[in-house]
Amino acid sequence: MCIYKIEGGIPLQGQVEISCAKNAVLPMIFASLLTTEEVKIKNVPLLSDVQTSLQILQLLGGEYTSGAELCLHNRTLRTSQAPYEAVRSMRASILAMGPLLARMGNVSIALPGGCAIGARPVDLHLKGLTALGADIQLEHGTLQARAKTLHGSQIYLDFPSVGATENIMMAAVLAQGETILNNAAAEPEVEDLANFLCAMGARICGQGSDTIIIEGVNTLHSVQYQPIADRIEAGTFLAAAAACGGDVTLTHINPEHIRAAIAKLTECGAALSETTNSVRIQAAGRPRKIDIKSLPYPGFPTDLQAQFCALASVANGASVIVETVFEQRYNHIAELVRMGADIKIDERTAIINGVEILSGTHVCAPDLRGGAALVIAGLCANGTTELRDEGHLQRGYDHIESKLTQLGAKISLTE
Ligand code: UD1
Repeated sequence: MCIYKIEGGIPLQGQVEISCAKNAVLPMIFASLLTTEEVKIKNVPLLSDVQTSLQILQLLGGEYTSGAELCLHNRTLRTSQAPYEAVRSMRASILAMGPLLARMGNVSIALPGGCAIGARPVDLHLKGLTALGADIQLEHGTLQARAKTLHGSQIYLDFPSVGATENIMMAAVLAQGETILNNAAAEPEVEDLANFLCAMGARICGQGSDTIIIEGVNTLHSVQYQPIADRIEAGTFLAAAAACGGDVTLTHINPEHIRAAIAKLTECGAALSETTNSVRIQAAGRPRKIDIKSLPYPGFPTDLQAQFCALASVANGASVIVETVFEQRYNHIAELVRMGADIKIDERTAIINGVEILSGTHVCAPDLRGGAALVIAGLCANGTTELRDEGHLQRGYDHIESKLTQLGAKISLTE
C-alpha cells in the first residue's frame, strides 16, 4: 500500500521533464517478440506496468536488461502460453497475442485484468486476428489461437480501439500480403508503435490516420528507438497547475499531442505558450468552468477525464463532462465528493458545480487516472489529504511525487 500525504494550497512553480509514454513503451515491449534480434528502447520509465510486461516476456523465454536503455532479446521462446497469474494485473498484456501468433503460429493467453473502468472486451482484437487467418477459441477464460500462416486482409474496426489496432498491426507486419485497417486508432502511441515497427523493417503507411496499410515482410531486425513523451503525464501536470495556480514549464513534450488539453486549459483562463518540445502554463485565480467530451484521438483523451474532473471541481461555474470511450469511468467522483466537490452523475455525464475550495481528507485511488485526479484535488485542497493507493499511480506515473516536489508541492510517499 502506498500512502501519498499532500499539503494543499501551494501554487506550482518550475520546470519538469516528461517521461516516455507508458502506452507507447508497453506495445513496443510486446512487439520485440516479433524478432530474434536485439531490441533497444531508450529512456524507458520504470513503471510497474513496464515491469509486468517484462515479467511476461521473461516467462515466454525472452531476456532483458534495464538501465538507461531497455535491451530486450527474444532469441528463442520457450512457450507461447501466458497464464492468468502473469497477465491478470494488466489489460495491455493482451498485446502479446498478435506478436506471439505471428512468431510462433499459436498462442494461449488468459483474458487479462487491469483498471476497473468498464467491461473492456477484446472482440475487436479477435475479429482482426481472425480476419488474418487465426482460429481462436475461448476456453476456461483463456484465448487459444493458432494460424499456420497469417495472410493480409481488409479489416474494419467498429470502434477505433487503440489495443486492437496495435495487436492487428503487430500480427500483420509478418503476414503474407497486404492488410488494410479501416477506422483504425490514430493515437500518437499507435503511430509511434508503427514507426518503431518500420525501424525494425516493417512496411507500414498511414499510421496516425484512420487507415493503416501494412505490407507483410518475412522477418524483422534489431532496432534502437526513443519512444514519444507521455501526453497523459503532461496533461496531468498541466491540469494540476491550472487547479493550483502557478507557472510550470514541461519539457520533452510535443504540444501537437496535447492540443485538446491545451484548448481546454485555455478555456479555463490559463495562459499557455509552447515551443516544438515544451509547453508552459501560467495560471492565477480560480479556473473558469469547462465542458469536455472524451473521444478517440485527436479528441479529448479519456485518460485525462478524471484529472480534468478534479480541475472542474474548483472552477467558477458548472462544467459538464461526458465520458464516451469507457462506460464506467467515474470511480474518482465519489472520492472527489468526499473532499467537498459538488458532482452529479447521470449515466455517462458528470455535472460539476465548482466549489471555491476542496478540503483535504482520507481518500483512496480507485484506478490509475482516478488516483491522479485525487492527487490534483489534494494539491489544491485546504489542509492535508492522505491518498491511499494499492499501486495504481506507480503503474503509470514515473515518480509523480518527486516531480511534483520539484514544482514546489508538499507531497510525500510512504510505501
Ligand atoms: C488504451 C490505453 C488506455 C486508454 C485507451 C483509450 C494502452 C496500454 N492503454 O487502452 O490508457 O484509456 O486506449 O484511449 O495503450 N473495445 C471494445 N472491443 C475491443 C477493444 C476495445 O469494445 O476489442 C472498447 C473498450 O471497451 C472501450 C473502447 O473500445 O470502451 C476503447 O478501448 P481501447 O481503445 O481498446 O483501449 P485500450 O487499448 O484497452
